Parts: sequence; C-alpha cells; structure tokens
Amino acid sequence: MRDIILIGFMGAGKTTVGKRLAETLGASFIDTDDYIAERAGMSVSGIFEKFGEQRFRDMETEALRALLNGGEPAVISVGGGLPMREENREYLKKLGRTVYLRARTETLIGRLSGDGSRPLLKGQDLQTRISELLRQRGAVYEAAADEILDTDGKRISEIVREIARFCGP
Ligand code: S3P
Repeated sequence: MRDIILIGFMGAGKTTVGKRLAETLGASFIDTDDYIAERAGMSVSGIFEKFGEQRFRDMETEALRALLNGGEPAVISVGGGLPMREENREYLKKLGRTVYLRARTETLIGRLSGDGSRPLLKGQDLQTRISELLRQRGAVYEAAADEILDTDGKRISEIVREIARFCGP
C-alpha cells in the first residue's frame, strides 16, 4: 500500500475519517498538524502566534519531506492550507493517493462554529471567511486530488468505506 493522503478544508473531517480509515486498513495514522505541534512543543495556534503563518507553512513542507523519507505506508491527514504550496503538491504525488474530502460551506460552518483552535478563523465571520478561503482553495484541492469525495450528510463509516474502495488493492 502507498500512503493515502486526505486533503480538504478545516472541518472537512480529515482527522476523524483518517483515524478510522487507518484502523480499518491496519495502517498507521499521521496528522501533519499533530506531527508539527509535537516537534515544535507547542500548538498550531501557538506557532502562528509566536512565529507567524509563514514559519508554520515551512514546517508543513519540512514535515512532508520527512514523511517522504520514512516508514511504513500510512494514512496521512494534512492541514487545510498545506496543498496550497506547489512544492507540497509535488510531495503529495510522490507519497501516494490523495483524496479530497469536499464539503459545502454550510456543512463546514456547522462543524467549525464554536471552534477556537483555528487561527485563520479566529474572530472572523465564518460564512464570509470560509466562502472566501474556499474560493481561493477549491480548485487547487480538486486539481491536487486523485479522488474527490462529497461528504455532506454522510456518516464517517460510509466515507471510510468509499475511500477504502478507491484506494484498495
Ligand atoms: C489551516 C488548517 C488547520 C491548520 C492551521 C491552518 C488552514 O488544519 O493546519 O490552522 O490553512 O486551512 P485543519 O485543516 O486540520 O483544521
């Protein structure tokens, strides 16, 4: 098995789906945000505050380089902004198959309201901010993906089954 990489907007369910998919496939699970936070010894929000977004983006690229050099095939869930850097998209291609967990703005608002952990959404009107970011990112996610999966209204188990079918042996 090559790696399976889950991309998509914040709140698309990458981490939840990724963990369940990894269990189903008997693979290990890596979340790039957790990977970076662990090595930095602080949360993603802390990194944004202390070092700024650009440094965090560089850490994402460093994390992908490290993943390319290492280990067993895994299910990897990546931060919502990671596919925006062209170099990162090249690394994703080398790592394995990329699945875009697509969700409508309304679905994302439902999942993200009350969340204080995303620095890019802090203090913003969610409808405006999510629509704006999705306009910038939607086509890039689509182009980076080997498969696009619409997740609105679906249970986690259904999404996991569909990905396993795309990516199965
Ligand atoms: C970001 C998404 C977050 C995290 C950071 C920036 C983004 O990850 O990497 O807050 O630019 O969309 P999730 O997509 O896992 O929330």
